[in-house]
Amino acid sequence: MKKINLGCGERYTKGWINLDFNSHHPDVVCHNLLSPFPFHDEEVDVIYNSHFLEHFSREEAKKILTECHRVLKKKGIIRIVVPDLENICREYLKLIDNIEDIESQEKYQWVIIELLDQMVRTEKWGLMNIYWQQIVEKDNQFMIDYINSRMGYDIRQYYTKAELPNASKSQNFNLTKIKTEFLNWYIKLIKNLLPPAYRQSINDNTMLGEKHKWMYDKYSLRCLLQEAQFSHIRFLDATTSNIPNFCNDHLDINLDGTPYRESSLYCEAYK
Ligand SMILES: C[S@@+](CC[C@H](N)C(=O)[O-])C[C@H]1O[C@@H](n2cnc3c(N)ncnc32)[C@H](O)[C@@H]1O
Repeated sequence: MKKINLGCGERYTKGWINLDFNSHHPDVVCHNLLSPFPFHDEEVDVIYNSHFLEHFSREEAKKILTECHRVLKKKGIIRIVVPDLENICREYLKLIDNIEDIESQEKYQWVIIELLDQMVRTEKWGLMNIYWQQIVEKDNQFMIDYINSRMGYDIRQYYTKAELPNASKSQNFNLTKIKTEFLNWYIKLIKNLLPPAYRQSINDNTMLGEKHKWMYDKYSLRCLLQEAQFSHIRFLDATTSNIPNFCNDHLDINLDGTPYRESSLYCEAYK
C-alpha cells in the first residue's frame, strides 16, 4: 500500500513516503508541494497531511488538493488535519464574553496568539514562543495547563524540550540536516545583503511553512474538498480513521493515546 505524508515536518514514520521542502532526515523526501507531486496518476492509496494546508492561500490549497486527487487511486483516502477555526473562534467569544474575569483575561492573551499571531508573525513560532517561555519561567501552572489543553503534545515537545533556555538540543546530526542548516545560514546571509523591501518580500515567501495563510472550519474544508472532486467527506477525531491500522503509526496520537494536536479538525474523504 502506497501512503504519503505531505509536509511531514518532524512527524515522519516508516511505511509512509514522507515529503517536505525542509528535509532533516534521509526518510524525508525534499519536495516543494506547490509543484506537481513526484507520482503518476492513480498511484497512491492514502494521502495524509497535518497542520499543512493552512500554510497556503485557498487557491494554493485547492491546487494541492487537486494534485492529491490526481495521484490517488480510485477509492483512495485523503486525511487532513488542520487547526479548527470554529473551535478557536468559539473559545475567543467565550473569553471575550467574560473578559472582566481575571482567568478569562489570561486565557485571552493566548487565544489571540492562536488566532492572529500565526497569520501575521515574521519569525518562527512568533509570539507563541515568547509567551510560552514567559509563563513557564513564571511557573504559571494555570496557563501551562490551559495552553497544553489547547495545543496538546505539540507545544510540550517543541517548547519545553527544544526552545527553552538551557534545554539540550537534539544531537541527531546527519548529512541532510547539516546541508539544510548550511543552506538556511546561506539564505540568511544573502537576504541580509538585499535592500529591505526585497528582504520583506522574500521573508514573506520563505515564511510559507511558518505562517498560516488561511484557516478552515467544517464547512469551508468540505467546500474545498468538493471543489477538488472528493466525495464521502467525514469529520472524525484523532483516534478514528478509515485508513487501515492508522492509529498504529501514531501520527495523530501520542504513545499514550492522547491527541498529538488538540483543538484540531480531522477530516477524511475518498476519491
Ligand atoms: C506546521 S508544520 C506541520 C508538520 C507536521 N505535519 C506536523 O503535524 O507536526 C508544516 C510543514 O509544512 C511544510 N511545508 C510548508 N510549505 C511547503 C511546501 N510548499 N512544500 C513542502 N512542504 C511544505 C513545512 O516545511 C513544515 O514542515
